[in-house]
Amino acid sequence: MMRMAAMLFYMMVFATICSSSSSMAITREQEEDRIRELPGQPRVGFSQFSGYVSVNKKHGRALFYWLTQSPSSPNNKPLLLWLNGGPGCSSVAYGASEEIGPFRINKTGSSLYLNRFAWNTEANILFLESPAGVGFSYTNTSSDLLTSGDNRTAQDALIFLVKWMSRFPQYKYRDFYIAGESYAGT
Ligand SMILES: *[C@@H]1O[C@H](CO)[C@@H](O)[C@H](O)[C@H]1NC(C)=O
Ligand SMILES: *[C@@H]1O[C@H](CO)[C@@H](O)[C@H](O)[C@H]1NC(C)=O
Ligand SMILES: *[C@@H]1O[C@H](CO)[C@@H](O)[C@H](O)[C@H]1NC(C)=O
Repeated sequence: MMRMAAMLFYMMVFATICSSSSSMAITREQEEDRIRELPGQPRVGFSQFSGYVSVNKKHGRALFYWLTQSPSSPNNKPLLLWLNGGPGCSSVAYGASEEIGPFRINKTGSSLYLNRFAWNTEANILFLESPAGVGFSYTNTSSDLLTSGDNRTAQDALIFLVKWMSRFPQYKYRDFYIAGESYAGT
């Protein structure tokens, strides 16, 4: 009994050490964001996560993200932040679902099928809905929608990134790219 307790203790210590190294295990916080399967989704060999990151507590602004990891060696692949243009275009509805994401939506809307040209073969893709009010990103202060602009969009996105990196620390020291289209350049 004692020996078993001691063994368990060492296993826990070992797990703690491992989870603070660069090839970190999935944390509980990350596990809560895991997408097990989307409705009508074909089988895939990569992990997906999505959720909200609060960027302004006072106004209640939160940005929605969808991370689609690479099917092979995700730990050795860069992180790419994808932003759609507009301003006001959804990265999930357009960039992910009609352009570079792993899935396309079936014409009948009944299922998803694989995108042959998905970018997650080359990088872990982080789709961000930005600014608040676009796609699944929201604000609890309606007037925010009338006073939105490049400055706040940039500030909120930076706060998002810093907080997201602390939720997914395995990406902190990874090669990082920012990509997008059209107004995303601004
Ligand atoms: C927005 O309001 C809802 C309802 O009160 C609350 O649950 C949520 O946490 C708020 N969002 C943010 C980002 O504070
Ligand atoms: C779309 O869904 C229908 C019904 O589930 C299926 O018959 C069809 O093959 C699907 N099309 C594509 C392109 O996946
Ligand atoms: C941009 O937003 C930040 C944070 O809200 C604010 O401190 C700064 O004054 C703003 N800059 C401009 C040029 O509006």
